[in-house]
Amino acid sequence: MRMPRGGRLFLATCLGSLFVLVLYFQSITNPEPDVKTDSRPGKSRRSPLQTLYNGDQLELLAAQRSLQGRRELLEQACLSHTRKRQVLSPEDLKHLIVDDKHSLIYCYVPKVACTNWKRVLMVLTSDGRYTDPLAIPANEAHVAGNLRTLSEFSVPEINQRLRSYLKFIFVREPFERLVSAYRNKFTRSYNTAFHKRYGTKIIRRHRPEPEREALEKGNDVSFHEFVQYLVDPRTQREEPFNEHWERVHSLCHPCMIHYDVVGKYETLEPDAQAVLSLAGVEGTLQFPTSGKSTRTDGNMAARYFKHISPFYQKKLFNLYRMDFLLFNYSTPEYLSSR
Ligand SMILES: *[C@@H]1O[C@H](CO)[C@@H](O)[C@H](O)[C@H]1NC(C)=O
Repeated sequence: MRMPRGGRLFLATCLGSLFVLVLYFQSITNPEPDVKTDSRPGKSRRSPLQTLYNGDQLELLAAQRSLQGRRELLEQACLSHTRKRQVLSPEDLKHLIVDDKHSLIYCYVPKVACTNWKRVLMVLTSDGRYTDPLAIPANEAHVAGNLRTLSEFSVPEINQRLRSYLKFIFVREPFERLVSAYRNKFTRSYNTAFHKRYGTKIIRRHRPEPEREALEKGNDVSFHEFVQYLVDPRTQREEPFNEHWERVHSLCHPCMIHYDVVGKYETLEPDAQAVLSLAGVEGTLQFPTSGKSTRTDGNMAARYFKHISPFYQKKLFNLYRMDFLLFNYSTPEYLSSR
């Protein structure tokens, strides 16, 4: 059965599966973090949220000013571009990873250093079992159950954490992220699961007169075919986008979850450092930057978009428009339909 998004939401409401996070929303304008005491008796420390909003650490000031700018820009963009406030259910919080020890919530966005952030959070929550993020194999970092997500908690527990924890997210120029996802999932021979699951369907629908082998393997999807698949209205009617190309707006709900820190892939190192120092672990833990994930020159998308017609460029831009607006990414120069 096909139903538009609004219809599904409404149905869900009728079934009573939605939980209103009212308490949380009433307190978002002026965060007043609970006083958080360390688990060790007799010792207390500031929570990361308190450090951020009442911070008096001089060295953090410069970084904080730009973080505050991004926060305010996000808030403004949400006010001007989103319609009526939606309601979140715990299901919507599956991408929010919780660290109860350090009062942190991280929304992971694939293709934005999320493997390394998961590794770091595994170290932070592991009670000493792990000390070096890079010693954790990448696939281990993605095993569901190694980290807790906010969706696993009860509604009061969710609200309490949303109120008092430091919530952070890392974003990236949307088309750079998209091209990175395409390259990783469709041009690497080892990603057979993606080829089978998505590649075969993309070729069936978007390649005129495909060869039998391509139809069976789905292993040679072109970027143009991938773009056609993304903008095809059937795609999202049938199922949500895969998280690797789903918009941050849909994965992390940045207009409803008020993120305290918006980090950027383009400034990954200082931004990661800022989060770790707010969490009070900058002395013991370094964000891995030399891992397997190779940083790109930030200009990869231009090469791929050269071969996309203005018609599809425009459609694709509309699809990812919110991610551009909310996170202050300007419309790429190379788009011919600007
Ligand atoms: C938004 O982007 C512009 C242009 O890149 C930049 O000058 C400005 O500082 C950014 N604003 C914030 C709040 O980050």
